[in-house]
Amino acid sequence: MNRAGAALIALATIAAAPPANPADQITTRVAGLRELGAAMKAVRDGIAPPEVQTILVQQAARQIVNAAGQMPGWFPAGSGPAPGLKTAAKAEIWAQPEKFAAARDTFVAEAAKFQMIAKTGDAAAIRAEVPKLGATCGGCHDTFREKAS
Ligand code: HEC
Repeated sequence: MNRAGAALIALATIAAAPPANPADQITTRVAGLRELGAAMKAVRDGIAPPEVQTILVQQAARQIVNAAGQMPGWFPAGSGPAPGLKTAAKAEIWAQPEKFAAARDTFVAEAAKFQMIAKTGDAAAIRAEVPKLGATCGGCHDTFREKAS
């Protein structure tokens, strides 16, 4: 094979590799988490007295379930804390993958449960479930996210 041919093959190999830019991965993750935070705020606003705004809560529940579905893709290896990268994700996410997956799965399951309850429109049941949903956010943040300074 001539040199140009070898260079073309090398280029093709580079083009086929998935983009693995940690800064972009963090940007995607943080954008998704901000949407999740906004959806959770909509839930809290939606259950504020005097009455539960069922449609708003149901829409937010769907967004939360969507985010839960995306979350497994948000923490690729190499997107953790490193010099020059701005992230509140702790190295423990990758050092304790089973513990992290358990925290994530607890949230994913609770998001699905919350959506089911939101669909019933039962105001008392919805209100009672929101703290349980919120606890699954905290359950991960407590261990795997840097405290805001
Ligand atoms: C399995 C772990 C996990 C779960 C569950 C989780 N989070 Fe997070 N969250 C993180 C991590 C890690 C970060 C830091 C991400 C970073 O800075 O790269 C974060 C960051 C955030 C941020 C800050 C984004 C920013 O502006 O920097 C918000 C808002 C947020 N999460 C909301 C929520 C809400 C609301 C829930 C529950 C409905 C939730 N998270 C559930 C792990 C989790």
